[in-house]
Amino acid sequence: MSATDRIPLLIDTDPGVDDAWALLMAFASPAHEVLGLTITAGNVGLEHTVRNALKLCEVAEVDVPVYPGCAVPLVFPAEDAAYVHGRDGFGDTAYLAPTRVAETEHAALAMIRFSRSHPGLLLVCLGPLTNLALALRLDPTLPSRIGRLVVMGGAVTGQGNTSVSAEFNVAFDPEAAHVVFEAFPAFDLVDWEVVLRHGLPHADVEQWLDAPAPKAAFYKAISQRTREWSEGRRGTHWHSADGLAMAAALEPEAATGWHRHAIEVETGGRLARGATIVDWADRSGRPAKARILAGLRPERFRHWLRLALA
Ligand code: RIB
Ligand code: CA
Repeated sequence: MSATDRIPLLIDTDPGVDDAWALLMAFASPAHEVLGLTITAGNVGLEHTVRNALKLCEVAEVDVPVYPGCAVPLVFPAEDAAYVHGRDGFGDTAYLAPTRVAETEHAALAMIRFSRSHPGLLLVCLGPLTNLALALRLDPTLPSRIGRLVVMGGAVTGQGNTSVSAEFNVAFDPEAAHVVFEAFPAFDLVDWEVVLRHGLPHADVEQWLDAPAPKAAFYKAISQRTREWSEGRRGTHWHSADGLAMAAALEPEAATGWHRHAIEVETGGRLARGATIVDWADRSGRPAKARILAGLRPERFRHWLRLALA
């Protein structure tokens, strides 16, 4: 495909081990042109997520600009997920520092600028939605220039991963998720529960990571700690939340189904701050903005996972 008819793709991310696999997928897609990476805090602090993004671009040998975003959520502070991803967010491997530096333009401003230079672009959000919420407050017309928004986040029947009922990305900045869900007329949602239905046997992953390619070797190293944590906590299968979201973003035809319903984010509450409340019975009369992924063909998911490492 020539560069002109590739789909322009902007990715907001908090790398993070599963983010890294998703980014390698996007870099490997022949049908997409990655315009840039906008970085948020989340899995670990912004300093680490920016450095990890720069390092991954270097390993993947892609010259994609990296834009630092918000270091903290919009309103209230939140705990990171270093216990899953390592203190540095990439398995604490003490990798050689990246030689490239990040851009000086803020992520929120970069999002607005790219929406004007590439109207109709595909925007994939793999972390807390702080940057996108900020961009929306700066430019409320932004959604009109986004062709398709794909969000990894939420737990659509209340089976959370960071608390009983909340998923990490939304729970890290519920106010930002509320701003985004209210501002966009429609968006695709890949939630934690559909991720749980697409587990990857650790044995298969270990075989894929032995592929004779620098990207595979790097990913094997940065993911080791997370894979060991997952095996100890969740058993024989590993879950790549951002990997599934990116596969659904790159190949929506591979979906086995979608549910369209209204959705709201709990921003208050003693028990369920960060929960995503889906109107499954369509009783609220609110617009059914969220197209919730029901499933993805497993063979296509595996295709993208392996292409990413080749
Ligand atoms: O709940 C999973 C999400 O939270 C993924 O995006 C993971 O990277 C973390 O950010
Ligand atoms: Ca993420």
